[in-house]
Amino acid sequence: MTILVTGGAGFIGANFVLDWLRLSDEPVVNLDKLTYAGNLGNFASLQGDARHVFVQGDIGDAALVSRLLAEHRPRAVVNFAAESHVDRSIHGAAEFIETNVVGTFQLLQAVLGHWRDTLAKDASFRFLHVSTDEVYGSLGADDPAFTETTQYQPNSPYSASKAASDHLVRAWHHTHGLPVLTTNCSNNYGQLQFPEKLIPLMILNALAGKPLPVYGDGLNVRDWLYVGDHCTAIRRVLEKGVPGEVYNVGGKSERRNIDVVKIICGILDELVPGSAHRPHEKLITYVKDRPGHDQRYAIDTTKIERDLGWEPEVGFEEGIRRTVQWYLDNTGWVQGVLSGEYRKWLDTNYAGRVAAA
Ligand code: NAD
Ligand code: DAU
Repeated sequence: MTILVTGGAGFIGANFVLDWLRLSDEPVVNLDKLTYAGNLGNFASLQGDARHVFVQGDIGDAALVSRLLAEHRPRAVVNFAAESHVDRSIHGAAEFIETNVVGTFQLLQAVLGHWRDTLAKDASFRFLHVSTDEVYGSLGADDPAFTETTQYQPNSPYSASKAASDHLVRAWHHTHGLPVLTTNCSNNYGQLQFPEKLIPLMILNALAGKPLPVYGDGLNVRDWLYVGDHCTAIRRVLEKGVPGEVYNVGGKSERRNIDVVKIICGILDELVPGSAHRPHEKLITYVKDRPGHDQRYAIDTTKIERDLGWEPEVGFEEGIRRTVQWYLDNTGWVQGVLSGEYRKWLDTNYAGRVAAA
């Protein structure tokens, strides 16, 4: 048996592949385009391991996907591939539409063709689509958390493109009977996250003594889930989820951005006592807000707990400490991702954000 993972060289996908192969001997075919966010350096520990078959390619290349499906006959496809960064979608949405919408459509078509031709009698086949809580829009301070029936109200080009992909996945089940599963998850953090996202950006900037750019008033709230817990949830949904169903996944760890940044600063003060930049909090700089910035996300995990028995295991205080320690211990990995492209992105996103008075 084999599974096909798409986008498996990115943050969550790589954690998923590494965990999968640590826990089982079932091979993984990993299809990834290797955009700026994909990193083969994530698989240093799998060198020479025949269970990991890496293929560089696009989920939008239906001929390639069809060939991989025919060749490897996976029992499941897990779709992580996406453009995933909200700020990038504000600077340019074309890639988001291309991969998240058109790419998901092409992938679904290829999988449907394969399923119809060869797998229709195999009741165990699954297509699992990894999506986000951002499709539900933004909550006020006292609003109830997102459930699986909360109305879709995506606000950014990123979340709109993910919402579109979710609708396609749903329709391919409803119309064509494809056995799909969808997960909508909150903010992940942990090892291997590209330092464009809040937590690794703050860790690396603080270590370098650079400003810590907090958007707006820093009071936006996110629910944080340790990436290993997300991977556990995906495995559980794959194993026990009911085709056609949607499962919300969250960490039960709502935090204001400013509090997250201060916690990171405190941990660095402790773990790097000789740093010239202590106390790291003095690096905090409030900058121009993200356009259309969602105020709050929160996830109601009742369904996945009740139906599939999944709960997050790593609390935020433990997970964030592990994460900071990982970035301190893995300077080789960090140097590998601080490419010219990364520096160009920092200029594009932050140069125009003048520090607030
Ligand atoms: P990421 O940006 O770190 O990685 C995305 C991966 O997809 C990269 O390896 C990239 O090379 C690959 N990719 C991009 N376009 C591709 C294409 N056309 N064909 C094949 N591969 C392609 O993203 P991530 O943070 O690991 O997120 C993975 C998935 O989980 C995404 O679908 C995202 O929307 C979703 N998600 C992310 C979070 C989060 O907090 N990071 C939370 C909930 C859901
Ligand atoms: O909720 C799930 C989503 O979480 C995923 O679908 C996305 O792929 C993932 O990127 C993440 O989206 P966010 O926009 O919430 O994550 P980000 O790390 O970019 O930002 C987290 C919060 O921190 C957000 O309120 C914006 C703020 N922020 C972010 C950056 C990069 C800052 O204040 N300063 C920054 O420099």
